[in-house]
Amino acid sequence: MAFINEHYLKLAAGYLFPEIARRVTVFSKEHPELAPEIIRCGIGDVTEPLPTSAVRAMHAATEELATRATFKGYGPGTGYDSVRAAIAQGDFRSRGLDVADDEVFLSDGSKGDCGNILEILGAGNRVAVTDPVYPAYVDANVMFGNTGAALAGGGYDGILYLPCTEANGFLADVPSAGTPAPDVIYLCSPNNPTGTVMDRARATAWVEYARKHRAIIFWDAAYESYNRSDAPKSVYEIPGARECAVEFRSFSKSGGFTGVRCGYTVLPKSVMAYTRAGEPVALHPLWTRRWNTRSNGVSYAVQRGAEALYTPEGQKEVRALVDFYMENARILREGCTRLGWKTWGGEHAPYVWCKVPDGSDSWAFFDRLLRKARVVTTPGAGFGRCGEGYFRISAFNSRANVEEVVRRLGAL
Ligand code: MLT
Repeated sequence: MAFINEHYLKLAAGYLFPEIARRVTVFSKEHPELAPEIIRCGIGDVTEPLPTSAVRAMHAATEELATRATFKGYGPGTGYDSVRAAIAQGDFRSRGLDVADDEVFLSDGSKGDCGNILEILGAGNRVAVTDPVYPAYVDANVMFGNTGAALAGGGYDGILYLPCTEANGFLADVPSAGTPAPDVIYLCSPNNPTGTVMDRARATAWVEYARKHRAIIFWDAAYESYNRSDAPKSVYEIPGARECAVEFRSFSKSGGFTGVRCGYTVLPKSVMAYTRAGEPVALHPLWTRRWNTRSNGVSYAVQRGAEALYTPEGQKEVRALVDFYMENARILREGCTRLGWKTWGGEHAPYVWCKVPDGSDSWAFFDRLLRKARVVTTPGAGFGRCGEGYFRISAFNSRANVEEVVRRLGAL
């Protein structure tokens, strides 16, 4: 008899984005004449073509594979040395941050990494997440057995939810004294879904908190390229973070790689976790071992494409791509503000977070926007209890569509 992982049975509803897609499909079937008018600002999926330097590098890599002299078979599970070096230099050392080449681990994207990393910690860690939160962190922890059952009002037993509300500017504060300290803390800045950026003082408080409690911060910086503020772009800007933080990065939103698939994790050699007997153990060798056992790494051509984003030409193209979506975000943010809607984010992030203007619940408002404006957004409730009453608009779309969204919202 084969047994299942019963933790999967705890998963409450379908994953947020498939549920959105399901509702859009239902509407499209009911109104096929309106389906072509639907504009999708729900899932944050890029729309613009890849940077030319990445395309050229992937072509060239494919040609190398077509010739016996330059053919490549299995690559290193953790990534090619030259790619790890380009990343460590381009994203960290060039900004004065101490990250060694072999502390960078290539992957097919940070969505997988932020769940896979749990494997080297094992089940039983108490996990803290912000509320609202990117749902993949929570679901991965449920599947892994780090939570109890789904709770009636939303969320899961055993997770420490850090409320992010208008009162704290949708930025998580460290738990108050007396709250049992979590072992693992997920933080995301620029934030998905609220688009807010964690200031240096809060990030410093989190690093100090993690070090005091021997906890680990999982810092998701997938949207780092949108952060043009003085707030930290990397957790390693904060003194002490190399002792307690793992950082996830992605080329999805900087290089338009959502379909190509490439990201990376930074795991400094100085990050420790503990045996049940209290012995410190470095995570770096465990993560290296995990990759070498579980994977043969990211495909060669894709790694070459990612590496090309660090050339001077690639950097210019990434900047232009991010500028394009930032301008979309500005148009959306200002459009919503003109309508008198309360908004956050959209300034150093590709997401605009809005308060539902008519006081209805966020799925009801989602349905109204879909049916009346043919615009797909993401209901805040899908990100957690504190997301109820809000919705997210993604700036990943064509300029024409973004302008049309603003026009339709105005005509609601
Ligand atoms: C989102 O819409 O939140 C993201 O696109 C999801 C993801 O990156 O997996």
